[in-house]
Amino acid sequence: MTDKLHSAHEYENNKGKEVPLTQKPLFHLIPKIGWMNDPNGFSYYNGKYHMFYQYHPYSTNWGPMHWGHAISSDMIKWEHVEAAMAPDSSFDEEGCFSGTALETADGKHLIIYTGVTKTQSENGEWYNLQNQCVAIGNGTEYEKYSNNPVITGDTLPDNFSKRDFRDPKIWAENGVLNCLVGCKTLEGDGQLAKYTSKDGLSWTFEKIFFKNNFRYGKMWECPDYFELNGKKIIVASPQEIEACELFNAGYGTVCVVGHLDENGNYIEESFNNLDYGLDFYAPETVKTPDGRTVMIGWLQNWDSLVIKREDFKWFGQTSLPREIQLINDKIIINPIKEIENYYAEKVEVIDKKICGATKIDNVKGRTVDLKIELSEDSTNDYEEFELKFACDEKHYSRIVYDRKKSTITLDRMHSGNRRSIIHERTCKVENYNGKLKLRLILDRYSSELFINDGEQVMSMGIFTDIDADGIVFNCNGTVKMNLIMHNLKM
Ligand code: FRU
Repeated sequence: MTDKLHSAHEYENNKGKEVPLTQKPLFHLIPKIGWMNDPNGFSYYNGKYHMFYQYHPYSTNWGPMHWGHAISSDMIKWEHVEAAMAPDSSFDEEGCFSGTALETADGKHLIIYTGVTKTQSENGEWYNLQNQCVAIGNGTEYEKYSNNPVITGDTLPDNFSKRDFRDPKIWAENGVLNCLVGCKTLEGDGQLAKYTSKDGLSWTFEKIFFKNNFRYGKMWECPDYFELNGKKIIVASPQEIEACELFNAGYGTVCVVGHLDENGNYIEESFNNLDYGLDFYAPETVKTPDGRTVMIGWLQNWDSLVIKREDFKWFGQTSLPREIQLINDKIIINPIKEIENYYAEKVEVIDKKICGATKIDNVKGRTVDLKIELSEDSTNDYEEFELKFACDEKHYSRIVYDRKKSTITLDRMHSGNRRSIIHERTCKVENYNGKLKLRLILDRYSSELFINDGEQVMSMGIFTDIDADGIVFNCNGTVKMNLIMHNLKM
C-alpha cells in the first residue's frame, strides 16, 4: 500500500470517530470524514452493494480526490470501510476522479475511473489532463493497473478537448465490455464517446455515441447507460445549462430515453429532468439481483456549496436510493422499498380538513416518511396548500402547492442559511381530478419529495438545527387530506 493511501486510512480511522451521531443523517451516506461529491462505482459485488465516492478526507472542501468506500446489504444502512484509492500514482497524481465498477465474469471487482495529471503546453501553461484508468479489487483492496491509463484523450477525434474527458461508465453486454466517457468538443459541445474491450484493459474507440448539440449545457459529466422496458436510457449531468422549459440554469441531471437503430446508433426519443429540486447531481445506477434499477445521486449542487454547516466535520451526502422505471413512456422515480424495513411509529389521519395553519398530533420529526393525499370536492375552494417542515419558532422549509398554476415550489429560504443564492425551485405537476399525492422523506439534513407516485422528484439539503422538527400544514381555503407518516429508525 502506498504512503498516501495508508495516511488516508489512518486519518479517516482516527478522525471519523469525531463526527457526533446527531450530526449524521440516519440513512444517507456521508463521507467518513471530510468532503464527498459524486457517488462512484455503485455496484453489486459478491453479494453486497458497494458505493465509492469522490472523497477528500482532510477537509470539508474539494481537494485531491480519493475514492471513499462503503458497503451495504440493502442500500439504506451503509458501513464505511477504508478508502479504496488515493491519488498516489503517476497517472492520477492530481486526483482519482469519478468512474464506475462491475463484477467481472471471473469474480473480480473492476473499477474504471478518471486519472488526472498535470501537463505543460508548448507555451508553458500548466493544465490538467484527464485519462481513463483501471483498478481491480476484491471488495476490500484495490490495485491500480500498472499500465494505466487504459484510455487516453488521443483516441478522440481531433476536435475534442483532452482536458474534459472523464467519468467512464462501464457495462458488459454479450461478453464485451463497453464504456461511455464524457467529452467535449473544442467548441464546447458535450458528447459521449464509446469504447469497447474484451478484457477491460485494452480499449478501442468505437464512435461518438451521443451529441448534446448545445441543447442542455456544455460538458456532460458522469454518464450512465442502462435499459428500462426495452428502451436505452442515457443519464448524464450537464454543466452550465441555460434555463429552459425542462431545466433551471446551472447544473442538472438529464435522462434521455431512446433506442438503437440497426447499426447500433443511438436514436433519442425524449429528454427528462431527474430531479426538479435544488440538490441532485451525478447519479449512478445499479441493477439489483431482483431486476430493479436503483439510482443514487449526490444530494448537492456545485452552485450551492456556500450553504454549509461550519460546525460539521463532513460535507456532502448521497440521495436516497431511488428506483427508476419507465412506465407508459414516462420516467417514474420512487424510493426503494427497503426503506419500509426501517418504519417505526405510524400516524394515520383520514379525511382531515385543513383550513388555516394546522398541526397534527405526533406529526413531527426529522427522520420521517410522510405520505399525504390532497383531494377536493365541490365544496372545497383553495388556491394554496403549504407544508412546512424542519420548523422551530424562527425557521422552516416548505413545499407550496399552487392549485391554479398546478405547480409545486420547494423553498428553503428560512431554513437558517445566510447566503444570497437561490433557495427555491418550482415545477409543474399534474392534478388528477383535484387529487395530488406527495411523499416527503426527511433524514435530518435532507428532504426528498416524490410527487404523484414518482412523476417528479424535488430534493434539497437542509442544514437547520436538528431540534427544529415541527411539521405544519396550511391552506388558504379548505382542502381534504389523508396522511400516513412513519418515523424512521435504525
Ligand atoms: C462531477 C465531477 C466529475 C469529476 C468529479 C471530480 O461532479 O466534476 O465530472 O469526475 O466531479 O471530483
